[in-house]
Amino acid sequence: MMAARLEHVAIIMDGNGRWAQLRNKPRTYGHIKGARVAKKIITHAANAGLKNLTLYAFSTENWLRPHEEVSFLMLLLNRYLRKETDNLVKKNIRFDVIGEITKLPKDIQQAIENTKKLTARNTGLYLTFAISYGSRQEILLAVQNIAEKFKNNEIDKNQITESLMTSHLMTSQIPDPDLIIRTSGETRLSNFMMWQASYSELYFSETLWPDFTEIHFDRCCQNYFQRERRYGRVIGKNEESFV
Ligand code: IPE
Ligand code: IPE
Ligand code: MG
Repeated sequence: MMAARLEHVAIIMDGNGRWAQLRNKPRTYGHIKGARVAKKIITHAANAGLKNLTLYAFSTENWLRPHEEVSFLMLLLNRYLRKETDNLVKKNIRFDVIGEITKLPKDIQQAIENTKKLTARNTGLYLTFAISYGSRQEILLAVQNIAEKFKNNEIDKNQITESLMTSHLMTSQIPDPDLIIRTSGETRLSNFMMWQASYSELYFSETLWPDFTEIHFDRCCQNYFQRERRYGRVIGKNEESFV
């Protein structure tokens, strides 16, 4: 049995710094190339008819990087939003963000709101940027909000279900990722979608993000389609015995 559908691809875009270092350039050079690659992959995914693409662009822990690098990443993000919004509108891409947005500089928060608003009615690719995002922080926030509702007698204990939890996460608008790709050879999640990734297929690519192309993306998807997603069951056997 083949993995039938691929509705949501998430990418941990890693390796910009190493890519630049290999060329004796500052890490920022890698981030510039990385942003260009992100743009290409977004267009490719939209053209291919993918429903959801999530890009991990900046983690909660990335705030701990040197101030100059953080500022540069913010600058790139700001530039991307200002330059690309028209394109997103034209390509019918809907833009969204998950993460602690209030930690971002005010001008970027405004640019995000503006892009979200202008693309809100688009029906093509649902593009989510994870910025200042951390899965543990997201889960804690959900638990705090649920606890508040419990305290106010809005919900009972037995109403705290998986679906209630899911609806309190920042990803409540999108399905769980079917496929999570991480580039650069690192094999960890680094605080990315730990609740949502319970049954995601993981693909670890040795390619550094600035070298990643549409061909690599297609290869990851083809690999996904060859996998069997069992969700703990014995595929085939269950149907034979119980249907
Ligand atoms: C990914 O590349 C981009 C961000 C995390 C913002 P890195 O900057 O982590 O590059 P490496 O992993 O140091 O090579
Ligand atoms: C994960 O990459 C975050 C993003 C790609 C945005 P990192 O480079 O920050 O992860 P670690 O530090 O290697 O785990
Ligand atoms: Mg990294």
